Amino acid sequence: MNKEIKKQFIANSSQNQSEPPWAKYRSEMLKSFPSPYSGANDSLADGIHEAIRELDNLKPDKVGAPAFLGKNSALTIDFENVKASSLNPQMSSSGQVIKEVIKLFEGMPNWGHPLTMNNVNPQANTAAIVSAILTEIFAPNILEGEACWNIHQAELESGGILADLAGWEPKKSGCVYTYGGSGCWTYHLKYALTRVLPDSRYKGIRTDAKVICSQQAHYTMLNSSDWTGLGMDNIIRIRTDVETNAMDTNHLEEVLRDCHAKKIPIASIVCTMATTDANAFDPVEDVRKLMDKYPNPEGYGKALLYCDSVIGWAWMTFKNYNFKTNPLGFSNAVLPYIDKNYNAIKGIFYADAFGVDFHKTGFSPYISSVFVYKNAEEFESLLSRGVQAYLQARSPYNPMNYTLEVSRTATGSMAGWATLKFFGYEGFQSVLGGILENKVYLKNQIQKNSEMVCVNPSDYGLVTLLRIYPKGTDAHLQFDNELKDSSHRDNLIKNNKLTHAIGEKLFEWYRSSKIINEHCTPYLSFSTGFRATEYNRDMEDSEAVIYAIKMFPMNVYITPEVMDHVLQCIVAARDEVMLHNNL
Ligand SMILES: Cc1ncc(COP(=O)(O)O)c(C=O)c1O
Repeated sequence: MNKEIKKQFIANSSQNQSEPPWAKYRSEMLKSFPSPYSGANDSLADGIHEAIRELDNLKPDKVGAPAFLGKNSALTIDFENVKASSLNPQMSSSGQVIKEVIKLFEGMPNWGHPLTMNNVNPQANTAAIVSAILTEIFAPNILEGEACWNIHQAELESGGILADLAGWEPKKSGCVYTYGGSGCWTYHLKYALTRVLPDSRYKGIRTDAKVICSQQAHYTMLNSSDWTGLGMDNIIRIRTDVETNAMDTNHLEEVLRDCHAKKIPIASIVCTMATTDANAFDPVEDVRKLMDKYPNPEGYGKALLYCDSVIGWAWMTFKNYNFKTNPLGFSNAVLPYIDKNYNAIKGIFYADAFGVDFHKTGFSPYISSVFVYKNAEEFESLLSRGVQAYLQARSPYNPMNYTLEVSRTATGSMAGWATLKFFGYEGFQSVLGGILENKVYLKNQIQKNSEMVCVNPSDYGLVTLLRIYPKGTDAHLQFDNELKDSSHRDNLIKNNKLTHAIGEKLFEWYRSSKIINEHCTPYLSFSTGFRATEYNRDMEDSEAVIYAIKMFPMNVYITPEVMDHVLQCIVAARDEVMLHNNL
């Protein structure tokens, strides 16, 4: 269409004075729908440009400013009345609405800020953000080929790349992008139940098949076993090793032997790799051997081995790293961390499926999770519902026939794929190794303060957990007693309260833009029980657990100076709490 015709087309759509009101409103609206033609006066590019500039104004303009967006950190929602709302009679304008949207970002955590280190949610990279935004413009629906055409390459190729990282045959493997690490868990459970209880898809789940995971496994196990109808009581929690927090294979064997003797089928065993706070990797290879030793009773399918690797998967990118020549020049202190993480994750090879969260260790926006399976033929045929009458297969790839969702957005697959393409091996290695460089620095600084102790010293992951005690306490000795000796239970609980109060104080300071040494205080988090004490391995005593302040230096803008400041803020918060809280 030439330019003149294009102009005419748009003019026709928006001009006629004798139009009825509905048509006028409709014409007015046209200004706020992207033009179908290139070169036309398009509101979209301008709108995005303007919105991003305005959003940018919410960012701080100097180092040390608060780690939230905008000036007002208050929660301004009127929760009592917010729902007492109804649709406006009049039309608004898209510009006005976008302004209102931008206001909602006021006070939100600024995930790109160097003082933000509250969780495994690193700032996303630009390639992933832009790719995700682009999918909102033309709305590819990755349920089937017709609705997304070549966009399916992102999902298909991601599956191949991730399978290759795991050491699987890429062409025989597959993946589906889904709604989070929890979605991956649910996918695995459905796969397992379908495999193990062959009639369950039609007759329902009529057998109490068990799902086995460690005590440290993520609570999404509850979502999945509940929503699939298996029932939360069918989860068996395996004890974890006191030192490594990994699944205790002796206890696992006891459970498997018992189920085997009683002819109770196992739907799946889940190895968490790694756990959210303790970076524990369950020993997949050993678990596989035990599964082979105790197969399901006759009449049931083979149990599934799933790796909940939504956090740890990225360590697979060290697959070809030469630890001897160390081409990226990681420090000697960091190399063993990387080596350990890679050696722990590589057991993923023995799994039937694993989960990947690009929005965690893939530096991509929410939600970009992938459920990856080794045997595409099995997974896709087991869950197949056959061809639907109202959709035609226009491409050889039609996941709608076996996915949980019907429509699926391509935002996740584009973000994940863009990151894989952008980072490559080197990018992942540099960004992950860089986090560890900061973490090791932090750990060394903690060691210099006798009132603080790093409580996950042998953990090679991205998080550092610490406890700080009242002035003059020998933190190492105190923590050792609290961890191992039940006669120190009262002190443990008292110091847990202190840790809790410090965590709350730091949150209050972050929200109120408290200044310490001319810089705002960090956005951290804390755990009210990242592990049990040694005398409470069964977790029967809900209070004999270790509270800790958490720091996830995931952000690429973090430097050693930032880590020094964070520790100073923690000390200041401890002093403030001790002064006012009567602890
Ligand atoms: C080990 C593990 N599994 C599953 C999940 C759930 O993932 P999502 O929040 O993406 O649903 C998390 C989230 O932190 C996790 O750490």
